[in-house]
Amino acid sequence: MENTTTSTTNEYTAITKNAIVSNTKLAFDLFLRNDVGGKARYILFCRADDHFSAKRQEELLSKNAEKLYIFKKDTDKYLLYQEENLKSIIDDKDKTSLEKSGALYQVAENITEALLANPKSGTHIERASTWVNNTVSHIVKNENTFSSLFEVTSHDYRTYSHSINMSVIGLLFGKYLSLNPHELDCLGTGLLLHDIGKVVVSPEIINKTSRLTKEEFDEIKKHPKAGLDILELKKNVDSLCLKIVAQHHENRDGTGYPYGLGGPDIHLFGSIARILDVYDAMTTNRPYAPAKRPFAALAEMKAEMLDCFDGELLKEFIWFLGAKDPRNKFRASDTLITSPSLSK
Ligand SMILES: [Fe+2]
Ligand SMILES: [Fe+2]
Repeated sequence: MENTTTSTTNEYTAITKNAIVSNTKLAFDLFLRNDVGGKARYILFCRADDHFSAKRQEELLSKNAEKLYIFKKDTDKYLLYQEENLKSIIDDKDKTSLEKSGALYQVAENITEALLANPKSGTHIERASTWVNNTVSHIVKNENTFSSLFEVTSHDYRTYSHSINMSVIGLLFGKYLSLNPHELDCLGTGLLLHDIGKVVVSPEIINKTSRLTKEEFDEIKKHPKAGLDILELKKNVDSLCLKIVAQHHENRDGTGYPYGLGGPDIHLFGSIARILDVYDAMTTNRPYAPAKRPFAALAEMKAEMLDCFDGELLKEFIWFLGAKDPRNKFRASDTLITSPSLSK
C-alpha cells in the first residue's frame, strides 16, 4: 500500500515524530522520508482519512524515523488534528513533557491567531477555553511542566505570543497559589484573551517602535474596555475572565487605566495580570528594547514600579520564579526548576 513519490522539499513539511496519536483518523497524508543518492523520496505511510490504529503506530515507531512529513498545503489540517486530539496528546504516556508542551504552544498559536483575526467568534473563544483546560491538565498531571512550558514560550513580543506566554506563566503561578480548577480555567482563559481589544487599535500604533504621542497612547488605552465589549456579548465567558480583560492595566496607586481603580478595588486576577503583563513584556524582545533577564526585570519591577503592583503578590511571584532564569539560562535544557511550594 506504500506509494513512493520524489519531490522537492518545499512541497513537504516536517512534523515531529510523536505528533500522531493512535486510534485517530488522520486528515492528511503522512509520509516518511528516505534520502537516496542525494534526492529526497517521500514514502506515503498513511493516507488521509485512514484509521491510524495502535498497530500502525507500532509499525511507525519501528521505522525509527527522526521526523514525519506532510504536504505543506495540509498544515492547517494538521494543526486542527493536533487541536482536536490535544487531550490524547496530553494523556499519552509515551510523549515527553516537552513534546506535550510544544503541542500545546503550537495549538495556542493557531487559536490566538484565529482569535485576533476574528475576535467576535464564539467558536474561537470556546477553543481558547478548551486549550486552557488541556493546559491545566498538563500542569496538574506532569512534574516537568514548569521547565518544559517555559521552554516553549516565545522570546518575541507579539500580541499572540504575549497572550500565550501570559496564560502559560499565569497558570503555573496560579497552581503555585493553590487556585482551584475553576479559578485556573478562568485565569488561563482571561490571560489568553486579555489583549483581544487591541484589534480596535490601528496596527501602526501597536507596532510603532518610537515613543507614542499622547493621542496615540489614548488610543492604546481603549483596548481593555474594547475587549470587555467584545467578550460581554458572549454569555459563556465567566466574569472572572472579564476582570482580567478589564483590569490588567490598573495600578495599585490608582494611576492605571481605564478606570483608575486603586488598591482593594482591583481583583486578585487583575493584579496577577498586571504583574505578568509587565514581566512578559520586559523579558521578551520588543521592537524598541531587547529582552531583559528575568532577574533584572523582577528587580526593576520591585525597585521602580512597586506602586503599580500588589506588593505581597509581587513577592509571591518572585518566590514562584525563584532567583533562577528559566526563560533564558535554562531554556535549552530540560532542567526541572522548582521552588519548595511547587514541588509539593
Ligand atoms: Fe493590555
Ligand atoms: Fe498585555
